[in-house]
Amino acid sequence: MIIAVDGPAASGKGTIARRLAAHFGLPHLDTGLLYRAVGIGVLRAGGDPSSAADALAACGFGAAMLHDPQLKSEAAGKAASIVSAHPEVRAALFARQLDFASQPGGAVLDGRDIGTVIAPHAAAKLFVTATPEARAERRWRELTASGLAVDQKHVLTDIRARDERDSVRSAAPLKMAGDARLLDTTALDVEGAVAAALLLVERALHPAANDGAR
Ligand code: C5P
Repeated sequence: MIIAVDGPAASGKGTIARRLAAHFGLPHLDTGLLYRAVGIGVLRAGGDPSSAADALAACGFGAAMLHDPQLKSEAAGKAASIVSAHPEVRAALFARQLDFASQPGGAVLDGRDIGTVIAPHAAAKLFVTATPEARAERRWRELTASGLAVDQKHVLTDIRARDERDSVRSAAPLKMAGDARLLDTTALDVEGAVAAALLLVERALHPAANDGAR
């Protein structure tokens, strides 16, 4: 059983995907980490994330790279959103994601194009979103809690820029799959968002049993 969780930055999709994976006893892959690993790899090599050749050269990273603490930085997120626009990079990372999704028993993957490109056949698809302001505030709280002094307005500007880059690129843009279920987490806390996500997944898995509940 594959569960696809897509959505923009700081929408809560990562937390929701992790909790769904724990609930259903499935392995989980945060696919943003793959693009972040490529982004950081390019920066460390002194390359330019907007160069397809530089980005492609950084796609052969090892599994250990996915645990690098620098992947969580804003610099990695920004570089990731630039390298991810290259179709060559998306193609190079495709097999890793498909392999993960195809393991026996299934998996939960979160990202931008899981329900549309990586696993269009997923048993359940969620598209998790929230207003840019709510997402910026969450990201700002996370960064502040981790000891970084950042300006909330600056975080909002970054989130909007990332949304724009992720949505307008021609290669696998951020787009809700036609058969995905929309979850707006703007007014929800973590537990509320997880509960709503579980309900939507159960409805996707057992449509007939839940028809009356819609
Ligand atoms: O989700 P996260 O913020 O870690 O993703 C970083 C960047 O990687 C995103 O802004 C997006 O450009 C890219 N990405 C992508 N496709 C995915 C996951 C992430 O293009 N499946």
